[in-house]
Amino acid sequence: MSEQNTPDVEIAAGAIEPNGDIALPVHHPRRTDFDPRAAKRAERQVSIMFGLSAILTVAFVVAYVMIPTDATFPVPFFGTWSASNTALGVTFGLAAFFIGAGIMQWAKKLMNDKEVVAMRHSLASPEDSREEAIAEFQEGLDDSGFATRRILRRSLLGAVALFPIPLIVILRDLGPLPGDKLFITSWVPGMRIVLDVTGAPIRPADIPVGGIVSAMPAVLPAIQKAEGNLNARAKDVVLLVRMNPDEIRSQQGGTDDEPWDYEGVLCFSKICTHVGCPIALYEQRTHHLLCPCHQSTFDLADSGNVIFGPAARELPQLPIKLDDEGYLVARDSFQQPVGPSFWERG
Ligand code: FES
Repeated sequence: MSEQNTPDVEIAAGAIEPNGDIALPVHHPRRTDFDPRAAKRAERQVSIMFGLSAILTVAFVVAYVMIPTDATFPVPFFGTWSASNTALGVTFGLAAFFIGAGIMQWAKKLMNDKEVVAMRHSLASPEDSREEAIAEFQEGLDDSGFATRRILRRSLLGAVALFPIPLIVILRDLGPLPGDKLFITSWVPGMRIVLDVTGAPIRPADIPVGGIVSAMPAVLPAIQKAEGNLNARAKDVVLLVRMNPDEIRSQQGGTDDEPWDYEGVLCFSKICTHVGCPIALYEQRTHHLLCPCHQSTFDLADSGNVIFGPAARELPQLPIKLDDEGYLVARDSFQQPVGPSFWERG
């Protein structure tokens, strides 16, 4: 390996020097190589970036401790963002960025950038080895009959060309598209809400404040029996949660006369809006509902909005009320399709 020591001497790149070395391209010194003030300035820039990174790391810890996990803020065109996640992402991301940018600036402006050459042997094999390899390949070709047996060669090429077709045909199994099926459930006005396991009707007093129960429409067992499958269940199952009415910050609809909850009892679809897993991991203190599949988290005290994870939309809420016998029933059907998002939702 040789190193160029006189940067302002021009040498044609790639030329062979009398001693057999490859000549180096012309070296152009940077300002920081000959101007101590420029070098000092670059040093200051790099140390400022490292300092900013340190400050942002401290800010990350402060944000983690100080910002409540349920704090949100509106972002034009993007809906509501979690203040905690945003602060943590921005501080940690910028802290990492400034370390990287500082190191790059240090390398570009202050580290030695003189060109060097590492000599390598030729990569080509010797002529006799190459001829030997070609002869062996030709012998193998002749032995296989690939060149001489035309019918074999053509039938093989035809078989290989058709082979991918089944892979394309089975794409049909991904369909048909759901159409309006996820818009239609068994929930209609007046449909009684019953316990998922026993089928017993539910009074509000059956659910303690902070409690959660899995439920279904009273008609579901009959539908399942008639259809002989669980398709209706996959759309109809719901969760009832009860919280102090003062803790409900927003709902997906309703008026003072016709609220969507009944005295703090709220009803939501149990099917995650990401890819449709059933959800039931409820954190009573925060009112957060966590999907075990990919950790989407919904805030049931705030319209079932997504506060974390890959789900793209809120958990659909079912409006409820009491019937004449004091049992919980649907006030109306779901006002939006249940289950995973899909492109033709409209
Ligand atoms: S199915 Fe719920 S987060 Fe993916």
